[in-house]
Amino acid sequence: MPAKSRKPLISGNWKMHLNHFEAIQLVQKLSYELREADYGSVDVSVHPPFTDLRSVQTVLDADRIPVLLGAQHCHWEDKGAFTGEISPALLAKLNVRLVIVGHSERRQLFGETDEDVNRKVKAVLKHGMTPIMCVGETLDEREAGTTEERVSGQVRAGLVGIGAGEVGGLVIAYEPIWAIGTGRNATPEDAQAVCAAIRGVVREIAGADAAGSVRIQYGGSVKASNAGELLGQPDIDGALVGGASLEADQFAPIVRAAHG
Ligand code: 13P
Repeated sequence: MPAKSRKPLISGNWKMHLNHFEAIQLVQKLSYELREADYGSVDVSVHPPFTDLRSVQTVLDADRIPVLLGAQHCHWEDKGAFTGEISPALLAKLNVRLVIVGHSERRQLFGETDEDVNRKVKAVLKHGMTPIMCVGETLDEREAGTTEERVSGQVRAGLVGIGAGEVGGLVIAYEPIWAIGTGRNATPEDAQAVCAAIRGVVREIAGADAAGSVRIQYGGSVKASNAGELLGQPDIDGALVGGASLEADQFAPIVRAAHG
């Protein structure tokens, strides 16, 4: 695969799986599977549940494992009376580097709006972390032929009021909702078309430099067997992986597929 100017980012979203003992085991297993060549060519992040973050951080630090620590979600306020929520300030203190914002499960099951997503993207940036802003269409929207309209709208709404320089450092994850956890991935051609459209929207709002540097991941039933073809597309700069990130021997080949 020809090297791209943007370093690929392969992220494991563990969702609500693995207690902190299991989480430690998984990062250790992953560190046995990954080689220096992998880290050199690919950024790798793991996004455990909140209760595992401190344990995973400790293992990554102690064993000098160059995997980036990520979170799955946060609030936009620094602190306050928001029972059950976690602020970006608390995450930053744990050396969290990337925060998933606006995952479709948060949008669909917990009512997160485009405005919430925008507030969170700004809050994550304010604390020096990188948002992975998720966008994606439902099956109905896809069948109605409104995928690009839907996804472009989410990108525009999520990036309101964010400077061009910051937009260029973001990660946007295109995750068609019908492909998440279903075993049914978007075809590489379809995923490429939507990711190219996302880059086009970024170019429109933030200019050519931002469009050239923003990293766009594909997510939705990514596995070792389809990663190579998806990641070989010119506008796909990485993957946001759910199910296949829960086993080191399934996740590591996806990382390797990102550098051929
Ligand atoms: P799956 O890889 O299990 O389809 O999940 C994708 C996802 O939602 C990652 O955020």
